[in-house]
Parts: sequence; structure tokens; C-alpha cells
Amino acid sequence: MNILECIINNASVKIPANHGIVLLDFLRQHEHLTGTKEGCREGDCGACTVLVGELQGDGVYYRSVNSCLMPLSDVHGKHIVTIEGINQPKELNPIQQAFVNDGGTQCGFCTPGFILSLTGYFVNNGKFEPADALQAVDGNICRCTGHTPIKKAIHHIVDSLKNNSAADGTFLSYCVEQKILPDYFLAIPARLRSINTAPLTDVHIEEEHTIVVSGGTDLYVQKAFTMHAEKIKNIASWRKSIPITEDENTIHIPGTTTVEEFRLSPVVAKYFPELKRQFECFGSTPIRHRATVAGNIVNASPIGDMTCLLMALNAVLTLRDAGSSRKIPLRQFYKGYKLIDKKYSELIESVSFSRPKSVTRLSYEKVSRRQFLDIASVNTTMVFEQTEKGMLQCGISAGGVAPVPLFLAKTSEYLNGKMVNGDTLKESLRIAQTEISPISDARGSAEYKRLLLRQLIAAHFMKYFPGAVRKGSLI
Ligand SMILES: Cc1cc2nc3c(=O)[nH]c(=O)nc-3n(C[C@H](O)[C@H](O)[C@H](O)COP(=O)(O)OP(=O)(O)OC[C@H]3O[C@@H](n4cnc5c(N)ncnc54)[C@H](O)[C@@H]3O)c2cc1C
Ligand code: FES
Ligand code: FES
Repeated sequence: MNILECIINNASVKIPANHGIVLLDFLRQHEHLTGTKEGCREGDCGACTVLVGELQGDGVYYRSVNSCLMPLSDVHGKHIVTIEGINQPKELNPIQQAFVNDGGTQCGFCTPGFILSLTGYFVNNGKFEPADALQAVDGNICRCTGHTPIKKAIHHIVDSLKNNSAADGTFLSYCVEQKILPDYFLAIPARLRSINTAPLTDVHIEEEHTIVVSGGTDLYVQKAFTMHAEKIKNIASWRKSIPITEDENTIHIPGTTTVEEFRLSPVVAKYFPELKRQFECFGSTPIRHRATVAGNIVNASPIGDMTCLLMALNAVLTLRDAGSSRKIPLRQFYKGYKLIDKKYSELIESVSFSRPKSVTRLSYEKVSRRQFLDIASVNTTMVFEQTEKGMLQCGISAGGVAPVPLFLAKTSEYLNGKMVNGDTLKESLRIAQTEISPISDARGSAEYKRLLLRQLIAAHFMKYFPGAVRKGSLI
């Protein structure tokens, strides 16, 4: 596609292809929308937060994203909203006013990001809870005001917006009625429908030096200063209309599924309801809105959270290369540090794992230097069937303790068919230590990571066998 068409605030915009640059640079340098701020350029501070609206059914769904990591090539057919686009003509909108009333802004550098993250929350929800509204700003950091007045402002705005009382009950018209959004938003669904967005059903990667970009949350951090000059292929919309599904035997996840779509998936919630809360520790809301399942796997970080989870579930990757496809177990995908069993032209089309049974149990644990917005020092997942004959089909994965995301094959094998007691646990912890080779780095010393993994595996057991495993048996 040589011309990208989108709506930026109230303006229809056609952009000649310059696919490698990020949305932040386009907004500030080409559109002069300088309310969107540049802070870290690494997805960490939220100063660059914008809303990206996409048609979903009859309406438009808005997601907060870090514009510093979003390739411009992904704006086609979307509504991009910056702080300038939610200003009312003569007055502050209620969110902006609450920030002023409660002293939630001083230098103002972080403020547009906070306001847009909150706007995204109100536009997509009918019922408002302070805890959920606070969660929506988990990717925004204020360095000078302090977060207490910001929290106060958020509580006040939630209190003043208790019920969706719009005549037609839609979130968009409610937000317009409440002056959270200007009137022009009501026409956006129809305007987006008029843009020709042919779905990307098939992708062919022809040249070895084409960089495949999905969410961009790894690539635009790792190659921040060179991506603008690269030949890139944006696949974020590939098979985008396909949700996570299940059939009689298998759960299927399209590769371009975002971490937030995974976290909120009804299919995932049916089997592993606790993951919705636990995966709040994956980056932040705007990062999860972009980060994809396949991106996490191919990035091959030894501490990838999605990879850790899927490895314990014994997931299988379907790799597509033009017309052909092949399957490979995730446990066999990693060949060395950042070395994967994949040709440059192969794409992860989907990831699947066996449908959990009623006796299937999953425990996921992660320790990072900060509780939120940080990648793991060590992470681990344990999946097993809890039966009268003991543990069956046991799979334990561990991240941060080897050059690759690790499947603890010997530990898992040892536990198969075992009844759990203090001795079983001690022996499994001993075997796990023989399978790992952590190194000392910014995330902790090798000894610390060994200790962490030991404690996290013990935590798996204490979750499901609280009677069988006593704290004393761990010493
Ligand atoms: C602030 C911040 C916080 C983060 N927090 C976490 C965290 O808590 N836990 C965690 O695990 N990660 C975290 N990450 C890392 C990152 O968000 C994840 O690894 C994410 O899943 C990458 O997905 P993506 O779609 O953005 O990948 P991209 O950057 O688009 O791509 C990454 C790699 O995958 C390849 N690729 C992407 N899709 C496909 C496909 N379908 N087929 C073949 N190749 C493909 C690309 O070519 C590239 O090599 C964080 C990143 C940031 C910036
Ligand atoms: S500039 Fe900090 S998250 Fe984008
Ligand atoms: S008001 Fe200055 S960084 Fe938040």
C-alpha cells in the first residue's frame, strides 16, 4: 500500500508511504501536534500516549498506545486521537478540569498521556470503578507532581461519572454528552467505514532484509535509531478478525493476538481465570494493547512472559511460509541465545495447546525488580493434571535462568505420576537446579536467580498442595 489513509483527530489524512517511522515522530514533526510528548522513547513513561480507534462491529474501539513504538505503517483505517483532539472549544473537559482542581499537574509533560489513557478507559466502559480507572494509567509516569493528586483527580472524575445515561446507551455518545469527547467523534465510525481497508489475509515475506513488525514493542526499542530506514512489513492486521477459539481438543491463538486480547479472552478466562489479573504484570496497558503473542515468542527473550506460559502448556506453533505451513512444538523452537528454528520468511500464523481438562492446574509466577511495568528477573509456569494417582502431564518452564526460555524437562519428568509431599518437592527443587545455568546481570546475580527459581517452584506447589508441603520442608 503506497498511501495510508487515517483520521487524526478531526482531520482526514493521507500519508505517502514512509513506513518505518513511528507515529510519535509523524505527529510532532509533520502534523505539529506537539501536545504528544517525547520522553523515554522506550514505552516506559507514557508521555507519548495517544488513542487508536478501530472499527469493531458497529462502533469504534479505542486503545491507548505508546506512539513512540507504533509504526506509522499501522495507522491505515484508524482514528488517531491526540490531546489536541479531545479539547473542547472554550473550556477544559471534565478529566482535564479534575486534574486542575486536584493539583494533578505541574510541568504538564506527563499530563496529555494521563488524560488520554483515562479518556480511553471512559470511552470503552459503561460502568466506572476507581481501581479500573487507575489500572488504565498503569503506563503513565509523573516525575514532578507525584501520583497522589493524580489518584485523587481520578477518584473525583469516576465519582462524577457514575452511570452511562446517554439516550442511546452507547459509550461514545455518553462521552460526548459528558463533554469528555467533542461532538465530531459521533461521525468517526461512518468516516472510518468509508476508508478502504482490505483485510490482510495472506502475507508473503520476499526479501531477507525485510523486517517483520507486529506490535513493534520489541523492535522499536531494540532498533530505535535504524527502524526508520529499514524496509519493513507490517503484519499487525494479519488475521486480525480471528479471535482466540477452542474446539473439542485444542485452543487456537492467532499469532497477531495482542497480550491484552489474550488477557481478556473469554476462552482463556474459562480455563485459567487467574491469568487476567496475573498478566496485569505484563508491561502496561498501552504495551499490552500492542505487544503480540508471536512477537514475544520470536523475540526469543529468555524472560518472555507469554513464552514462559505457552511453553509449560506444551504449545505448538504453526509457521506459514507463502503457501505452505509446518508445525513445531515451542519446546523445540529455541536453539541457542536468540537462535530460533525459523526461516526469515516464515511467520507464526497461530499457536495452539491442548484444551485443559477439569483436573488441569496452572500456576504462573514472576519476580521483577519493580512489580509493574518491568520484565522478569525470573519467571516460571507449572501446568499439571491433579489426579488421585498424583501429578500427571507435568510441565514446568523457567525464564531468566538460561540463554533461552527453558523447559525443565527432567524436573517435569520426575514429577509425572508422583504424589506430592515434602520429599517430592525437595527432590524436584534439586533436579531443577541441575537444569539451569543463570548468569549475573542487571536483573540479579546468578545465585539470586537460582534462589528465586527455587522459591517460585515452591510457590507453585504451595498454591495447590498447601497441606502436603510445609514451610519447614523447604529449608
Ligand atoms: C515498556 C515495555 C515493557 C515490556 N514488558 C514486558 C513484560 O512484562 N513481559 C514480556 O514478556 N515482554 C515485555 N516487553 C517486551 C514486548 O512487549 C514483548 O516481547 C511483545 O510480546 C513483543 O511483541 P510485538 O508484537 O510488539 O513484537 P515486535 O516488536 O513487532 O516483533 C518482535 C520480533 O518478532 C517478530 N515477529 C513478530 N510477529 C511475528 C510473527 N507473527 N511471525 C514471525 N515473526 C514475528 C519480529 O520480526 C521481531 O523479530 C515489554 C516491552 C516494553 C517496551
Ligand atoms: S516516550 Fe516514553 S513511552 Fe513513549
Ligand atoms: S506534571 Fe511534570 S511530569 Fe507530571
